[in-house]
Amino acid sequence: MMDFAAVRLEQSPEGKTEAHLKRLSDSDLMEGDVTLAVRASAVNFKDGLAVTGRLPVVRRWPMIPGVDAAAVVTESRDARWNPGDEVILTGWGVGETHLGAWSERMRVSGDWLVRRPDTLSPFEAMSLGTAGVTVAEGIDRLERLGVTPADGPIVVTGAAGGVGSMAVMLLASQGWGVTAVTGRPEEAERLRQLGAAEVIGRDLFAGPARPLGRERWAAAFDMVGSTVLAHLVSMLKPGGVAIACGNAAGMDLPSSVAPFILRGVSLVGVDSVRVPAARREAIWSHLAAVVDRDRLTAMTQVIPLAEAIEAGRRIVEGRVAGRTVVAIGG
Ligand SMILES: NC(=O)c1ccc[n+]([C@@H]2O[C@H](COP(=O)([O-])OP(=O)(O)OC[C@H]3O[C@@H](n4cnc5c(N)ncnc54)[C@H](OP(=O)(O)O)[C@@H]3O)[C@@H](O)[C@H]2O)c1
Repeated sequence: MMDFAAVRLEQSPEGKTEAHLKRLSDSDLMEGDVTLAVRASAVNFKDGLAVTGRLPVVRRWPMIPGVDAAAVVTESRDARWNPGDEVILTGWGVGETHLGAWSERMRVSGDWLVRRPDTLSPFEAMSLGTAGVTVAEGIDRLERLGVTPADGPIVVTGAAGGVGSMAVMLLASQGWGVTAVTGRPEEAERLRQLGAAEVIGRDLFAGPARPLGRERWAAAFDMVGSTVLAHLVSMLKPGGVAIACGNAAGMDLPSSVAPFILRGVSLVGVDSVRVPAARREAIWSHLAAVVDRDRLTAMTQVIPLAEAIEAGRRIVEGRVAGRTVVAIGG
């Protein structure tokens, strides 16, 4: 029986979440046909919610957070996977209903795994992680609705965060004129280096949104929700598309139907957790082919597992810039 390090979340009798780095053994792992040695994970907003208990994302106690993993297969009862295979796992309820990746070991379903493209290191794969999958899904929705850079610029909110920085980088590389919205002016230069054409503050989105505002953008990529998303839909050009990705400011949406019925605006959601397996293969091949490694490295910091809990606390306070990779087994 192997023992290994993992971040374990427990719930106190008063309902408070407690997070500690612990040593666990294989008998603590859940059912699954593939056992993994984790090489790296990441810090996502959802991991921050799990660690702090700010929203009830954890559905099983005790839990190990970490919704993203780059790992190597060590044991398998699934004919598709063999010891030594290098894999990626994002979503599928890992870190919510199934023990997650802030751990040296995991046991999971073989259905959830994607082969890691040879051209991506485990760290690059985790820098992309759920953020890369989410942005790829959002770009797919824009393409399906026929909105292109020729229609006008796109606005990205929460731009200095993980998914936001990824969106700025990937959208700019596809020819979009990107307006990056950030509450942190000190991040403006980094966002310009990632490809933003314009960096603005949050003032435009303060207070209640009017039913219709000035037409500014052809599309929006929103990490924030609440009144910010309501402002965004009111400021899209006719036929514009808003991609709802996140809820950093809240789950509510105090909007009106005016942008939808008077400007033909579409509001489209993305859910990176339940992307079908076949589509994930395509997403990862695409990301490996198009990503600018220098820019990816520039937007990423690497921390050890011992610092993951603190990084989870900071991300829900909006104090983490870009992506954070958690180095685990190398
Ligand atoms: N739909 C999906 O499948 C999916 C996948 C991944 C993540 N998400 C969601 O996407 C969001 C971003 O995730 P992340 O990992 O990128 O987190 P993150 O790194 O913390 O980024 C969130 C950013 O939102 C901005 N923000 C935070 N609070 C705000 C407020 N009250 N008002 C306005 N802006 C605020 C901040 O950006 P600035 O400092 O630049 O303003 C912050 O950096 C989260 O809500 C997450 O749950 C959804």
